[in-house]
Amino acid sequence: MQEVRKYPYRILHPSMVAIISTMDLSGTPNACTVAWSMPVSSNPPLVAIALQKKHKSTKNIEETKEFVINIPGKPMLEIAKICGSVSGWEVNKFQKYHLEEQPSKAIKTPRIAGSIGYMECTLFAKYDGGDHYIFVGEIKVAEADERYFKETWNENAELIFHYGGDKYGKVVKY
Ligand SMILES: Cc1cc2nc3c(=O)[nH]c(=O)nc-3n(C[C@H](O)[C@H](O)[C@H](O)COP(=O)(O)O)c2cc1C
Repeated sequence: MQEVRKYPYRILHPSMVAIISTMDLSGTPNACTVAWSMPVSSNPPLVAIALQKKHKSTKNIEETKEFVINIPGKPMLEIAKICGSVSGWEVNKFQKYHLEEQPSKAIKTPRIAGSIGYMECTLFAKYDGGDHYIFVGEIKVAEADERYFKETWNENAELIFHYGGDKYGKVVKY
């Protein structure tokens, strides 16, 4: 066994990539890629995301108390990389990268059209998590593309997994 001193958390990867959409108080939407997300409760239905304190998305969620977890398929890989490297503090990513807003059903924050799964969440709790905040969202509406999801994702769903750094791919088959 080697000791993993650099990026020990990568032992928990690959992790499914999601793009979080949020909105600021003026109604400007933002999109931010995350690999750190997980379910935390089934009743009530809760999910958590870890967001760096400095992100524009963090400020947006603190202000509006809602967010959407958008699940991109492989055709959206480049969008996921861009939304994960450019900050909404600098750029309106929806405008500049031609992301299409799709109205949500239960909250004001829009979805990102073209995604293959959506979870519309209202803020349930916020915890300090070191250099991140852990935002726990209560799922108000969850939808997934019926071509790829029926109770679980099927093998045709080209989900994006992040291994760390610039390494992306499928989950290793066995
Ligand atoms: C594949 C990938 C996964 C990422 N995962 C996270 C994450 O889980 N949490 C986080 O805070 N930032 C994560 N990032 C970095 C943010 O997406 C990035 O810093 C983004 O520009 C922040 O945008 P914002 O300031 O507009 O909110 C990830 C980036 C990539 C490319």
